[in-house]
Amino acid sequence: MKIAVSGKGGVGKTTLAACLAKYYAQKGSKVIAVDADPDANLASALGLDMEESSDLVPLTDQKELIEERTGAKPGGYGAYFKLNPKVDDISQKFGVDVGGVRLLVAGTVKAGGSGCYCPENVLLKRLFKYLVVDTDEVVIMDMEAGIEHLGRGTCENMDMLIIVIEPGMRSVQTAFAVKKMSEDLGIKSLFIVANKIKSTKEFEEVKKRLTGFSILGQMPYSEKVRESDLGFFSPCEADEKFKKAIMEIAEKIDVYTLDQKE
Ligand SMILES: Nc1ncnc2c1ncn2[C@@H]1O[C@H](COP(=O)(O)OP(=O)(O)OP(=O)(O)O)[C@@H](O)[C@H]1O
Ligand SMILES: [Mg+2]
Repeated sequence: MKIAVSGKGGVGKTTLAACLAKYYAQKGSKVIAVDADPDANLASALGLDMEESSDLVPLTDQKELIEERTGAKPGGYGAYFKLNPKVDDISQKFGVDVGGVRLLVAGTVKAGGSGCYCPENVLLKRLFKYLVVDTDEVVIMDMEAGIEHLGRGTCENMDMLIIVIEPGMRSVQTAFAVKKMSEDLGIKSLFIVANKIKSTKEFEEVKKRLTGFSILGQMPYSEKVRESDLGFFSPCEADEKFKKAIMEIAEKIDVYTLDQKE
């Protein structure tokens, strides 16, 4: 199962991605969490401190790896390179274990007029495509804010795209933009998670604005979650109510996945 988490800036994509990754890892699944945001910070949401996080080298900066797999140096526009580099061992060799979750920091998929043809993009695209091998494996991808990256093909081959919104029309507008774009790209399984919800009434209000979307659930606003960002602890265990909300979202994902299989 491959899940991408998208949405407007600051809505809680990284928070949700980290908590889902931890949830599935605790349940015993093999989990690969991919930080696909160039401004990477999934590591800290998974509980790594600043020093440990700063040691992580994004894949697109690993020049030797890129050259070894594609036959060309990073940035080698126009150079001859393999379009089908070997990627099946990358999460094992280049990921780091964070509390049972295998974390991969992807780096920057560059925008480019000519269909992003450079060795590092080819490697990443192929990696995103072939990350899942076994049926019980879960891949959670924390995406860059906004919709631009969708045009670069980062969410192709995902089983599910979750758009996170917060109470407010700006993030809802982004959700509609993501929906439009993902329909153009043929992504069918699109869901909303409403974050930073302060009351049932607020959740109901937000839902009214989301005509045509399937709502997976909500995550309550939590002071503890907010504090976790400053305190370098993972938001996932910060607060029992929040943890329960994540569990309910994951259970809905499981029901959906089972339905798809039948
Ligand atoms: N339910 C919540 N309650 C309180 N604060 C929250 C909640 N969810 C997220 N936050 C806080 O909101 C901020 C943004 O969250 P997060 O980094 O997960 O968002 P993001 O969508 O990944 O942002 P970016 O677009 O920058 O990648 C963080 O400080 C986080 O701790
Ligand atoms: Mg983020």
